[in-house]
Amino acid sequence: GQLHDLAVKAGLEFFGTALGESHTSDSAYISLGTDSSEFGQLTPENGQKWDSTEPSRGQFSYTSGDIVPGIAAANGQILRCHTLTWHSQLPNWVSSGGFSYSDLQSIIETHIANVVGHYAGACHHWDVVNEAADDSGNWRSSVFYDTMGTDFLAISFNAAKAADPSAKLYLNDYNLEYNGAKTDRVFEAAQIIQAAGAPIDGVGFQGHLIVGSTPSRSSLATALRRFTALGLEVAYTEVDIRHSSLPPSDSALVTQGNDFASVVGSCLDVDGCVGVTVWGVTDKYSWIPDTFPGQGAALLYDDNLAKKPAWTSVSSVL
Ligand code: XIL
Repeated sequence: GQLHDLAVKAGLEFFGTALGESHTSDSAYISLGTDSSEFGQLTPENGQKWDSTEPSRGQFSYTSGDIVPGIAAANGQILRCHTLTWHSQLPNWVSSGGFSYSDLQSIIETHIANVVGHYAGACHHWDVVNEAADDSGNWRSSVFYDTMGTDFLAISFNAAKAADPSAKLYLNDYNLEYNGAKTDRVFEAAQIIQAAGAPIDGVGFQGHLIVGSTPSRSSLATALRRFTALGLEVAYTEVDIRHSSLPPSDSALVTQGNDFASVVGSCLDVDGCVGVTVWGVTDKYSWIPDTFPGQGAALLYDDNLAKKPAWTSVSSVL
């Protein structure tokens, strides 16, 4: 059986992947990425980010952003849309700042009205706010937080709801899996959004993890349940589990499989965990080696699009 079909039988809504807009001429890659029994859900890897959709103020472009939504629609795949208010991949005209509170509020609201409006009805989920906490568990310094404090959170969710009432709205971040200070801060962010009466539906655990350092299935479930206890759903939105040295040994590949099984298993264990998305089809195009030099081989398919031991581990746990 294939992973999405197994995930649905096990009670999840989806098993999916990010798809990279720049690799669409690789037909083997696209044929695997569009196999809806394997990947029943797609996330655009880069095309919907602010630098792509509004590179200069008020000038919206959807050339790259439309690629993955078009592929998902053509192949009957669920679409998770990604992402709106984020400090990274932000065009200079935004990140350079110098705005008043009300000007930045209007910039956020205009951006979200346009982008979410463009995809209205197509996105099962939107990652509305991405990475609001920093790695120490403080609020992340960004043009948004530095200008508006935490008000940008509810402002973003309200704007998304107004533009597409049918999309489920997510707060998304990484390292929530360790249930430490960063998890505490994102928990506080979710509570702030709820207390403001703004429409948050879920929290995304990105799941950028490390082979051999991934928390246990039960620890992961504990972290997920903190958020479902708030009445929210949760999902793993960007899972990859990287080897910190390359090439991986046979035993490291087995450990990687066990770590993937912990992640997927924890979602099965938690009522309200709706799905798992891996951050890429194949090691060949993973973002990890670019961002973490010397590390990688973090996904379920190798450079030749062959299934790795981790694929078998995921299929066995589902
Ligand atoms: C990454 C993409 O995979 C890369 O292609 C890009 O160069 C940088 O961004 N957290 C996120 C994703 O929310 O959007 C990031 O994606 C990975 C970390």
